Amino acid sequence: MIHKNLVILTGAGVSAESGVPTFRASDGLWEGHRIEAVATPEGFAANPALVQDFYNQRRRHLATVQPNAAHRALADLAARWDGDFLLVTQNVDDLHDRAHAETPPASGFELIHMHGELNKARCTASGVVCDWTGDLEAEQASPHHPRGRMRPHIVWFGEMPLAMERIEAALERCDLFVSIGTSGAVYPAAGFVQLARMACARTVEINLQPTQGARLFDEGVYGPATEAVPAFVADL
Ligand code: OAD
Repeated sequence: MIHKNLVILTGAGVSAESGVPTFRASDGLWEGHRIEAVATPEGFAANPALVQDFYNQRRRHLATVQPNAAHRALADLAARWDGDFLLVTQNVDDLHDRAHAETPPASGFELIHMHGELNKARCTASGVVCDWTGDLEAEQASPHHPRGRMRPHIVWFGEMPLAMERIEAALERCDLFVSIGTSGAVYPAAGFVQLARMACARTVEINLQPTQGARLFDEGVYGPATEAVPAFVADL
């Protein structure tokens, strides 16, 4: 089958073998933390020091890990894909970015971080987003606005994911949709497969095991991402 317009959604499972913890595993990130405390605007307002520290630790850890064979296989695919290829990640790590920097993509490729990026910070007053690889202080002054503070550029619960119009437009015209390493527990990303089905796209789930929404996909490929993704990409 020849496919032209590809949308791939990735989640924490694609970065797990790089050493980045997933969210919902028994040893996952949400196991040791109260989501409301570290991943909501209300939590940040109540205790900015706690929230900044949570993301500071994750940002420091990110500097110690590397892209894995799954990220690299997707970068190789992006380099040779002759059509539109939108890679939407829910991950706030920069492992896809680093893999694509090593293997520059073809012109029809775009990468969207729909839940934000750990290595960026946002001014609370102006909304300006800038690169930020160091720690953020509890009340980090903004270089962009006299009354602004810098917060992590992360989409928290209750906030709108980024670039949704662009993502939905790509889903409406895709003919292949692949969901990799995501539990499908968080909307709107969990609903992308239905939008792709409405476009009559072939839909594929790649995961360690079938997820709750597995029946929504035409096919499932089950195994660790570093093996399953390179094998799937080689077959395309
Ligand atoms: P989850 O932790 O919910 O799910 C991770 C998925 O990856 C599970 O389905 C695992 O089976 C799978 N997985 C784990 N290791 C894998 C491996 N080596 N190879 C393949 N699959 C593997 O993480 P997400 O679905 O990404 O949002 O979570 C979605 C969102 O929930 C996150 O972006 C985050 C979180 O709350 C925000 O922070 C806004």
